[in-house]
Amino acid sequence: MSGRAWVELDLAAVRHNVTVARELAGVPLLAVVKANGYGHGAVDVARAALAAGAKGLGVATAEEALELRAAGITGSIQILGSFLPDELAGAVEARACLTLHEPEDLQRVRQAARRAGRPLPVQVIVDVGMARHGVPLEEALPLLEAASRDPGVHLTGLLTHLPCATAPDLSLTRARLARFRRLIASAAVSGVLPAQVHAAASAALFRLPEARLNQVRAGIALLGLDPAQCLGEPGARLRPALSLRAQVMRTRQVGKGVPVGYGGRWIAPRETTLALLGLGYGDGLPYPLTQQGAEVLIRGQRCPVVGSVMMDYTAVDVTDLDEVPAPGDVATIVGRCGEAEITLVEQAERAGLIPYAFSCGLGTRLDRVVLSESAPAFRRVA
Ligand SMILES: Cc1ncc(COP(=O)(O)O)c(C=O)c1O
Repeated sequence: MSGRAWVELDLAAVRHNVTVARELAGVPLLAVVKANGYGHGAVDVARAALAAGAKGLGVATAEEALELRAAGITGSIQILGSFLPDELAGAVEARACLTLHEPEDLQRVRQAARRAGRPLPVQVIVDVGMARHGVPLEEALPLLEAASRDPGVHLTGLLTHLPCATAPDLSLTRARLARFRRLIASAAVSGVLPAQVHAAASAALFRLPEARLNQVRAGIALLGLDPAQCLGEPGARLRPALSLRAQVMRTRQVGKGVPVGYGGRWIAPRETTLALLGLGYGDGLPYPLTQQGAEVLIRGQRCPVVGSVMMDYTAVDVTDLDEVPAPGDVATIVGRCGEAEITLVEQAERAGLIPYAFSCGLGTRLDRVVLSESAPAFRRVA
């Protein structure tokens, strides 16, 4: 733990966001905590989400499910992603529900069930127009029938993923949802409709009530982030759970005309005071923030990032602050500082990224500070 730069995770915010999402949904909520809880910390986010009433957890891989189990989390876990044959043993060990993405997956899980000596829980994911993975719509009913009869599996759900639910125009998403609903109706008529039926991730959960079905899955909204400034008024009730901060390591004066940083791409337009922050792209601060007008907060004031973001450092122009910052002063890259705030969404936009990519990119070198109500100051974790 270097103390140079750190992520702060506000568990009360996660719990609050889970409550907002659950109230809106009116049906059970699966908290999606894949990719280390979108860079926020899977175990902490998962615990907070379950404490606030999430009914289970969604991950992408067996390894992620095992990490949650190793931390002592006992709630139900669904591996939403495609799996490789080698990952099946881990999924079984983690007692996770697998998601079937193609008809052949049923055979693969059946074999794993034989080895495990017990039927394995599965759900079927249907592709309604993403062309990523998922069973083609026309193959879904035969697969549901086969899975219902198969003693090697226990079919618990049917789901789809809506790829355009953040778009301003929801007509395409409505059409895709209608296809999924027709499949649900056919499965019900055939007597093979499993108990859980879900389609909505954060955007559809907030924007499209008819997508809520009898379960929703949400990731980014639970972290207080609006995926594309599309969540409207209920989205405004969410509270960002993550702050990103770094220490000022040193300051220096440079004269007018002095080139700063790699490539000398930024040239001081005046006598300038620079502060060097102890984080760079090696910590996940996106390199494209370079010369995109990005700012950070020091002493509650916005200070421009200048020059190229470096691997271990970032330079900011602090000339306009009332007082030159001292080494050890804290710069806020994402979060609140006094009355001022810079959101993750703003920094992601400056870097040309979606919020998911900004937060997932936060590096392992960053320290982690978990704010919790039981420890009003904070506790540090490795
Ligand atoms: C299948 C599936 N469901 C749910 C989610 C959660 O999406 P969001 O973070 O937009 O709520 C994801 C995330 O990519 C996903 O792949």
